[in-house]
Amino acid sequence: MSISFDVQRTAEGGGRRAALTLPHGVVETPVFMPVGTAASVKAVEQGVLEKIGPENRGAQIILANTYHLYLRPGHELIARAGGVHRFMSWERPMLTDSGGFQVFSLSSLRKVTQDGVEFRSHLDGSKHFFSPEHSMDVQIALGADIAMVFDECVEHPATYERTRDSMGLTHAWAQRSKDHFELHKHRVPWHEALGGATQSLFGIVQGGMYVDLRKESADRLVEMDFPGYAIGGLAVGEPREVTREMIARTLEWLPKDKPRYVMGVGYPDEIEEYAKMGVDMMDCVLPTRAGRHGLVFARDADGVVVRMNIKRKEYAEDPGPIDASCGCMVCARYSRAYLRHLFVSGEPLGLTLNSVHNLHFYLATMERVRADIAGTARSHSTL
Ligand code: GUN
Ligand code: ZN
Repeated sequence: MSISFDVQRTAEGGGRRAALTLPHGVVETPVFMPVGTAASVKAVEQGVLEKIGPENRGAQIILANTYHLYLRPGHELIARAGGVHRFMSWERPMLTDSGGFQVFSLSSLRKVTQDGVEFRSHLDGSKHFFSPEHSMDVQIALGADIAMVFDECVEHPATYERTRDSMGLTHAWAQRSKDHFELHKHRVPWHEALGGATQSLFGIVQGGMYVDLRKESADRLVEMDFPGYAIGGLAVGEPREVTREMIARTLEWLPKDKPRYVMGVGYPDEIEEYAKMGVDMMDCVLPTRAGRHGLVFARDADGVVVRMNIKRKEYAEDPGPIDASCGCMVCARYSRAYLRHLFVSGEPLGLTLNSVHNLHFYLATMERVRADIAGTARSHSTL
């Protein structure tokens, strides 16, 4: 089977618990997806990734980036290796972003036309061209369980006219992505090995910070009929109330029986809030990126999220764990004093341990939301 989404329970605020079945396994939602940009969740090895989170169940699904893997080592090399799952030895579900967002945020000298985007690599300045068709070819070669349409994420702030034109381009590209994907999806490296299963292609709603454009975008994409929908173009510098408003409104216009994914968010309290509003999937570099900068998340005595800077002098002789209520393998074993020492000394292990704790923190947060929705809430101190 390629995809199914079974909503088991919907709570009052709109949050739902569901099982998302994909070719490489079942994902319990709402879910947070750690980001593995270049087929690696930075500083965290796959064997560890399989064990972080509550009850050592590990990450259920991770994300990789088409833009990065296309540039290096190349999608054709990965296809020859059997696809991205086998290449990186991660047999659980995966999702690839389409490259649209990364081309706009990382590359230089972009030239956008109706046809696609010409850009220069952030690695060596070489010239490349991405179109919806090409993004689909690359994503099919990589073979994640879920692929994303090629879109344009408009900058913030952007005028109404600019946002409307960009959204129009995104809609045309979404249709072209879908047409090309449907024609070629059987080429995915594991098609035969997994009983004829294919990837699933999700649409991406754009429309900037304009509610009427968001509505038009949601309606247009729902008409195209995707098995899941993402809300893109958020967390680009707008105030948090605006992010929440855009999500809340857009969720009303998306089908309730399909997964809904908000791209690129957020802080721990945000992912909790959005999941309780009915968002099923989220991804963000924050837990790993913050960890590599020595920032670790914890909860105070009231369960409120706090961010600690592990390199601070006050932790130099602190024998306690990052967070006494955290059930992760780092908090079970290592002191703030040791973690501070590793970070201050530039030891790579420090980056790994901070990232592992932060990822666990995110996965435990989502586990608690799932339990809340199911009506079997447990306190965070048991996760
Ligand atoms: N990641 C975060 N935001 C976006 C977006 O708007 N589009 C895509 N493709 N990826 C994203
Ligand atoms: Zn921990």
